[in-house]
Amino acid sequence: MIQIQNITKSYGDFKAVDDVSFDVPSGRIVGFLGPNGAGKTTTIKIVTGVLNADSGNVLINGVNNRANPVEAKKQIGYIPDNNDVFLRLKGIEYINFIADMYGVDPQVRKERIQRYSHLFEMENNLNDKIVSYSHGMRQKIASIAVLVTDPAVWILDEPMTGLDPNSFAKLKKLMREQADMGKTVFFSTHVLDVAEKICDDVAIIKGGKLQFYGTLEQLREDVGNGGSLEELFLELTEADEN
Ligand SMILES: Nc1ncnc2c1ncn2[C@@H]1O[C@H](COP(=O)(O)OP(=O)(O)OP(=O)(O)O)[C@@H](O)[C@H]1O
Ligand SMILES: [Mg+2]
Repeated sequence: MIQIQNITKSYGDFKAVDDVSFDVPSGRIVGFLGPNGAGKTTTIKIVTGVLNADSGNVLINGVNNRANPVEAKKQIGYIPDNNDVFLRLKGIEYINFIADMYGVDPQVRKERIQRYSHLFEMENNLNDKIVSYSHGMRQKIASIAVLVTDPAVWILDEPMTGLDPNSFAKLKKLMREQADMGKTVFFSTHVLDVAEKICDDVAIIKGGKLQFYGTLEQLREDVGNGGSLEELFLELTEADEN
C-alpha cells in the first residue's frame, strides 16, 4: 500500500504537485491519469524517493520514505519513463546489479531471470549492452530486473510507451498477477482505453491537483454521463476551461 499525504513540490514559483493525497491499496491495479505536465512523473518520483517533496509524507506499506528511505525502497520496484541509464552494462549485468542491491537469493534469481527473459523474448539479448537495445527492449530489461526482485509495490511510469502489443499484453498480465498476489501496482498512462481495461481504480491529476480518486464506476457516477473513460477524462480535465 502507498499512502500519499499532502505532498507539494514546486519548481521556483511553479507548483508541479499541489497538496496531493491519496492511498493506493494493495491487491489492486491503480492507473494514474492526467494531461501532459499534470504532475504524474513528479508525484511518482516523490513516491519512489528520487525527488524530495517540499512538504507532505509518503508511506510505503507503513514505512515513511524520508525517515527510512532504504526500508521503503526495498519494497519498491520502479520502471521510470526513461530507461536510458546504465547503457554500458549488458542486460544481464544490469539485472544482476539490481538483484544484488535487493539481495535476491542466487537460485531464486536464476529461475526468475529465466522465466521473465523467456517471457519477454530477451534471452538472446542478455549478453548485449543496453546501449544497443531499442526503446522497447530497454523497457523490457527494466521490467525483468524489477520482477526479479519481486517487489511488494510496483510503480511504472508510462509503461506502454515503446512496447509492442504482444509485449504489452504480457506486461498487463504480469501486473494483474502481481495485484492478485496482494501486491500494489501503480502506473501512469495516457492510453485511456488501456487504463479502462486494466485498472481497478484511477487517480486523475491536473495542474498538480488531484481531481479524482476512485473506481471507474464512481467516476461515472461523479461525472454523470456514463460514457467511456475518454469522455469522462476529457470532461474532468477540461472542465475549468469551459
Ligand atoms: N526539473 C524540473 N524543473 C522545472 N519544472 C519541472 C521540472 N520537472 C517537471 N517540471 C514541471 O512540472 C510539471 C509537471 O511535470 P511532470 O513531469 O510531473 O508531468 P507529467 O504529468 O508526468 O507529464 P507527462 O504526461 O508529459 O509525462 C510540468 O509543468 C513540468 O514542466
Ligand atoms: Mg510524465
